[in-house]
Amino acid sequence: MALRQIRIQGDPVLEKVCKEVKEVTPRTLELIGDMLDTMYEANGVGLAAPQVGILKRIVVIDVTGEDPIVMINPKLVESSGEQTGYEGCLSVPGVSGKVTRPDYVKAVYCNEQMELKEIEGTELLARAICHELEHLDGHMYTEKVIGELVDNSELKEESEPE
Ligand code: NI
Repeated sequence: MALRQIRIQGDPVLEKVCKEVKEVTPRTLELIGDMLDTMYEANGVGLAAPQVGILKRIVVIDVTGEDPIVMINPKLVESSGEQTGYEGCLSVPGVSGKVTRPDYVKAVYCNEQMELKEIEGTELLARAICHELEHLDGHMYTEKVIGELVDNSELKEESEPE
């Protein structure tokens, strides 16, 4: 496993729609391992494949630091409620912005064995799932920010880079 370079906002790869994964190959597993390493190294809670330049529908999320979730071809199937809070993105370093998200989501996805799985999330996990899935369609949280982006040094610990 290895670290990959995180693409920064403005890189066209972050604006593309990613392709479905048809089969998990050794290269896919290597990519997933690298994505996890890269996310942990950057102290992020989520990372989508386009953020390392790969246009595949794969995201990794870990909101606790000890519970990695690998989602292949994820789809949001249910959402409800509302939460408004600061979030960030490893592709938009150093800043955060206030975004309104559902407070509950349910998503389906395939795991690394291409078995269909389901996940429910609330609070930060719901936020992270929404944020990462949007990357797969070329969208960034900055499109949804209420007000201005703020420098992370002006924030308390409530923001987590995603
Ligand atoms: Ni992001």
